[in-house]
Amino acid sequence: MRLIIMPESSSAMRLAAAEIASVMTSCASPVLGLATGRTMEGVYGDLVRLHQKQGLDFSSTTSFNLDEYVGLSADDRRSYHYYMNDLLFRHVNISQTNVHLPNGVAADLAQECADYEQAIRNAGGIDLQLLGIGDTGHIGFNEPPSPFDTRTRCVTLNERTREQNAAMFGGDPQKVPDRALTMGVGTILEAKHLLLLALGSAKADIVACALEGDVTPQVSASAIRLHDHCTVILDEASASALT
Ligand code: F6R
Repeated sequence: MRLIIMPESSSAMRLAAAEIASVMTSCASPVLGLATGRTMEGVYGDLVRLHQKQGLDFSSTTSFNLDEYVGLSADDRRSYHYYMNDLLFRHVNISQTNVHLPNGVAADLAQECADYEQAIRNAGGIDLQLLGIGDTGHIGFNEPPSPFDTRTRCVTLNERTREQNAAMFGGDPQKVPDRALTMGVGTILEAKHLLLLALGSAKADIVACALEGDVTPQVSASAIRLHDHCTVILDEASASALT
């Protein structure tokens, strides 16, 4: 595992964007695994800037997002599909046909998950998977316990995660959907490279747990330590509980 600690959250986000851009320019047809959440907002801002100012080309890029809430459609402002359109896709030259998120309003959720796995395989697998970390130690929405061989599936969200994500739902955790579709830990571990970004002191304890505690399904993010090509970018605040 390559661990990089940057002094500020802004420089950490910039470095994460630069790592993504470097994979994009080194692959003929890059396949990116993308994450959402507050941590990633600045990363996508930087990628848009790299596209607009330095011509970073998304035309041959394919993307697969980690997760989506069950019951929210792409045009719902609270969905992850909306987030991605708003912060990244509509600002760059990515083809909409190359953009993939699990469909949270699919009639058959199990089939949707199986199709998602197949689509990743058809694309040749994910070159770089971007990851955040939740308060429960989740990556994607793999709440504890999530065995390391789990695949894309429908999960029930932990109450703590619903609290963490309540801001988009008027501050009321009960309004956060209680289910989501998420790539599994096994799906994530098959990506060729992993890039985990965590920012801020609120993440310090769970980051220490994931990076220095037991490798266990009780902390999904600890699974990244099993991967041969894994980079973790932290700011000083999120690294503050590391020994
Ligand atoms: C979102 C996702 C989640 C988030 C995590 C951190 O697609 O996969 O694992 O990365 O919950 O969220 P923030 O960045 O909002 O703290």
